[in-house]
Amino acid sequence: MRSNPILMVLSAAAIGLLVGVSSPIRIAPTVLPLFSSLGGGGGGGGDDANCTSAGAGGRNMAARLSAALPFFGNSTTSTATPMKVSPPAKSEEAKKGAERLLPPDIVVRESDLHLRRLWGQPREDTPVRKYLVALTVGYSERANVNATVHKFSDNFDVMLFHYDGRTTEWDAEFEWSRQAIHVSARKQAKWWYAKRFMHPSVVAPYEYVFLWDQDLGAETFDAEEYIRVARKHGLEISQPGLDIVRGVKNYDVNVRRNDTEVHTSTSAGRCSAQDAARRPPCSAFVEVMAPVFTRRAWACVWHMIQNDLVHGWGLDWNFWRCVDEPGRQMGVVDAQYVAHHHGFTLGDKGNDTVDGSRRKVRLRASAEFGEFKARLYNADRAQQAAAALLAQSKAAAAAAPPPS
Ligand SMILES: *[C@@H]1O[C@H](CO)[C@@H](O)[C@H](O)[C@H]1NC(C)=O
Ligand SMILES: *[C@@H]1O[C@H](CO)[C@@H](O)[C@H](O)[C@H]1NC(C)=O
Ligand SMILES: *[C@@H]1O[C@H](CO)[C@@H](O)[C@H](O)[C@H]1NC(C)=O
Ligand SMILES: *[C@@H]1O[C@H](CO)[C@@H](O)[C@H](O)[C@H]1NC(C)=O
Ligand SMILES: *[C@@H]1O[C@H](CO)[C@@H](O)[C@H](O)[C@H]1NC(C)=O
Repeated sequence: MRSNPILMVLSAAAIGLLVGVSSPIRIAPTVLPLFSSLGGGGGGGGDDANCTSAGAGGRNMAARLSAALPFFGNSTTSTATPMKVSPPAKSEEAKKGAERLLPPDIVVRESDLHLRRLWGQPREDTPVRKYLVALTVGYSERANVNATVHKFSDNFDVMLFHYDGRTTEWDAEFEWSRQAIHVSARKQAKWWYAKRFMHPSVVAPYEYVFLWDQDLGAETFDAEEYIRVARKHGLEISQPGLDIVRGVKNYDVNVRRNDTEVHTSTSAGRCSAQDAARRPPCSAFVEVMAPVFTRRAWACVWHMIQNDLVHGWGLDWNFWRCVDEPGRQMGVVDAQYVAHHHGFTLGDKGNDTVDGSRRKVRLRASAEFGEFKARLYNADRAQQAAAALLAQSKAAAAAAPPPS
């Protein structure tokens, strides 16, 4: 029963892979800063959003956009200011290298998380599964993880992120563990792993990606059925409804309803019945603990994860940016529900003043939340400024006399 402090071989392989193959995904925030600078104040659990406030809904987007740009109204030098072109990212360079140097037919841009045999014909290996479930786990939670994994059919590839260094023990107890991919890195949070080991080009073959915590009660859950419902309703980002008889909730919108198959908004609690409920966390809101993404939505969400903000707080307030129609394409599947057993469990219980204590971990998570909000705010502004500048130079070009 030795612990394994290093990243497993897979990790190295995955990293090598990422450098070469990442294909650029165009992220078009089509709804623009509809909900931007959201996640207001409420550090993670804090639900202080005022759902009745105006400004939601795409119609007055233009107004909000210009209102958000007091400094960029009309500059005096109206002719095309050349925009700075940043050098290509390293992965871009690597990709270009591959394309320049290799014959195109040998280039493989994407990969998967499926085990193969070392013998026999490659084409006779078991095929890559249709879906992926990734769980962040510790050995002490194995009974619950085992129960959860059993709710996922053979159509799933399984990946476990081990934060306690104990990986080999799982194989001894669970048959399915031998088919799973194990990633071991000590004391990291779910979004740290997701950023590093679920690059869009590696999860590309999977139509749906489940990125779940380990403490979910999935007794009644059926993953295939879940996907059937999510697909039927066109949900790009979703989560199972939360059974609050057996577990806890943070937001009303995520609570399971018993009269619908799915729901996308709520007027319960602090959310008003008005149409204005169209904003997180009253609508277009899926929490971070049990999200399910389509391949397309994940490709976008992955790009939003910051390498240094490991707790991922605030991501859920911004998932809406990754779908075209947040009010319709994000929702809660009521027909397939789970129970969320615990609240915040990261960090060591006990002495609050010690590094790594629950209190200190929570402090960092809250601070990250603020930092993420600030980065998004700045990114929105920069994007709006660039768009305004572009529009201006286009207008100037149109007004200018044709070159003689
Ligand atoms: C929400 O906003 C409305 C209108 O601005 C205000 O009347 C109401 O008190 C606010 N509610 C909360 C809970 O802040
Ligand atoms: C800015 O634009 C407004 C209307 O678009 C115009 O009235 C105003 O004179 C402009 N200001 C400058 C400094 O160009
Ligand atoms: C794992 O879960 C399955 C299904 O719930 C159960 O039948 C099996 O006994 C569990 N395995 C162990 C080792 O607990
Ligand atoms: C459905 O939920 C409502 C309240 O949310 C409850 O009164 C009712 O008993 C539930 N029905 C069933 C069949 O569980
Ligand atoms: C908590 O840790 C600090 C520093 O490590 C130590 O000085 C203090 O005595 C500890 N408190 C308790 C209650 O153990």
